[in-house]
Amino acid sequence: MEELKNKAIEVLKGNWKDEVGFSIPCANLYPFQWFWDSGLIAIGFAHFDMHKAEAEIETLLDAQWGNGFIPHIIFHTESDTYFPGPDFHRSDLHPLSSKKYKSTGMTQPPVTGFVLEELYRISTDKKATLKFLETVIDKVYFNHEYFYKNRDPQNEGLVYIYHNWESGTDNSPIWDDIWETMNPPEYTFERRDTTHVDASERPSKREYDHYLYIIDIAKEHNYSDEKIAELSPFLVQDPLFNAMLIKSNESLIKLYELIGDNADKIAQLKTWQEKSIQSFNNKLFDDEIGAYIHYDLRNEKPLKYLSSSSFSPLFANIPSKERAASMVNVMMEKFGGEHQYLCASFDPTSERFNPKKYWRGPVWINLNWMLYNGLKQYGFLDIANRVKQDSIEIIEKNGFYEYFDSRKDMHNHGKAGYGGNNFSWSAALIIDLLNE
Ligand code: DGY
Repeated sequence: MEELKNKAIEVLKGNWKDEVGFSIPCANLYPFQWFWDSGLIAIGFAHFDMHKAEAEIETLLDAQWGNGFIPHIIFHTESDTYFPGPDFHRSDLHPLSSKKYKSTGMTQPPVTGFVLEELYRISTDKKATLKFLETVIDKVYFNHEYFYKNRDPQNEGLVYIYHNWESGTDNSPIWDDIWETMNPPEYTFERRDTTHVDASERPSKREYDHYLYIIDIAKEHNYSDEKIAELSPFLVQDPLFNAMLIKSNESLIKLYELIGDNADKIAQLKTWQEKSIQSFNNKLFDDEIGAYIHYDLRNEKPLKYLSSSSFSPLFANIPSKERAASMVNVMMEKFGGEHQYLCASFDPTSERFNPKKYWRGPVWINLNWMLYNGLKQYGFLDIANRVKQDSIEIIEKNGFYEYFDSRKDMHNHGKAGYGGNNFSWSAALIIDLLNE
């Protein structure tokens, strides 16, 4: 295991950009800083280089906008290996966007709060780490305030995402239902991702038309949140995204209590938290499916599909014990057969399942890391361990890939890792699992 850990450390060192102080997810395919990648990468660094873990978060927060928003990609460098780049996204259209960095005008799952708590947990010099946390925690709080003020039009305690790229689960089959409600123009553009990675592992051209069209609508209105809430054809309450926010609320409460003072912020966080958890349980749990699902706020209808996001609320302590137990049964029944690695990103029993294609089926290490921690928290130690062992095994067999085939028999020749190789969060989170 020591050898695997050392290899993981080499991956992280290789993707670190010392001039600016951040990590790329992987070379060529993702040559900039991504929001949730950065957060999860910091957890890996914290185990052997706390200075870099802190720098990763500082650089990310340095790109925060004047309204608290944190973008999903920060374009620190010029690179022509990625599309769509800064000239397409045009973050400068928003009056409060960063003057220092070009970025996208969309965000990603708000992992930063719980990442700060992870840094504190891992730290061997708690005093120094707490000092660091004091310098950044208000920015994360400000980010949560942005979400509750701007992304919750019906005041439910559940925030929306307005783009599939905000979900992190970019081409999930869940979005197919939304694509059916839209008819975007045929764009002419040059894909770059499919020059680095086999096209069968990436979204289709027609899917990209939808992705670009939603951005164009937002740009027409200078990325105004109000206009987006009114007009975007994609407006979804996502269980993974909201679970990350809730988990991060909890962490901010704990950290503010450790830091002291800040009674107002703690009280506000608790108010958000209570409402969010209640609505989450009332609105996003589907009895028939036996787990949490997405809600299409634009078309006012539940999106009744099982995915790995359906189980992510375990990580944020959202379900009751009884509910958690029945969710775990559903997970084991549909995703946990003896010929499958845990945990496929989409329902393996669905017609839309594709075990090779990005978020339409493959196993992802970040979701596995959350599931592992969630399952452990609820006392499902055997299943938690299986998730951990499966994660280690697929990396040992294939390398530090971005995602992996969920079918065990595909792993016999070491070619069941897909997407980018030497992928930062796969390395970072394996370091954390191995240090358990
Ligand atoms: C991509 O380009 O596929 C990214 O995941 C967008 O965030």
